Amino acid sequence: MQTAVPETLSFPLPLLQQTLCEHYRRLSPASRKLRFMGGLNDDALVRVVHASNPDLTLGIECDDALRAILELYFVDGIHAEIGLSVEDAYQGRGYGRTLFHRGLAEARARNMETVDVNFLRSNLAIKKFCIEEGGEVRCRGAECVSQLSLK
Ligand SMILES: CC(C)(COP(=O)(O)OP(=O)(O)OC[C@H]1O[C@@H](n2cnc3c(N)ncnc32)[C@H](O)[C@@H]1OP(=O)(O)O)[C@@H](O)C(=O)NCCC(=O)NCCS
Repeated sequence: MQTAVPETLSFPLPLLQQTLCEHYRRLSPASRKLRFMGGLNDDALVRVVHASNPDLTLGIECDDALRAILELYFVDGIHAEIGLSVEDAYQGRGYGRTLFHRGLAEARARNMETVDVNFLRSNLAIKKFCIEEGGEVRCRGAECVSQLSLK
């Protein structure tokens, strides 16, 4: 496994959104579908990104670009949601698990009690991460959610 240290992306919102957009555009259609739980063309992707304003964003840089990005949203004072993606050519190197662990640690440090992860039933990698963290997985049709306790 390649070691990689996630960095916090403390960019102004327009630059953050541009960075997210560039990363998401580099995802394959299959990875985009897994990330957004549905197929998104480039126009839809831009609309999604321009509506997004994560409370915390972490990234792993490699080959002069952010290849792995995690977004953390604080839903209220104690609940958070996580979304993450790793560009296809960089998957399987441990970036996803590293980011996931760091995201949970950041949520815990902000006194969050639970983190929700939404994913497609076919997404065995993220399901594995959730189970490793003690999360129960609940599925309805093709969509699943795992609520991770941080206590
Ligand atoms: C899910 C995702 C973030 C994982 O990132 P990654 O960098 O490839 O993950 P890692 O290399 O850290 O670990 C992947 C683990 O999943 C396992 N895995 C991958 N595909 C699998 C499959 N089809 N079945 C079972 N396990 C699988 C790997 O074996 C590995 O586990 P191991 O280290 O114990 O062997 C990445 O695949 C991705 O971005 N997918 C598209 C977007 C997405 O699904 N986002 C999550 C929903 S928000």
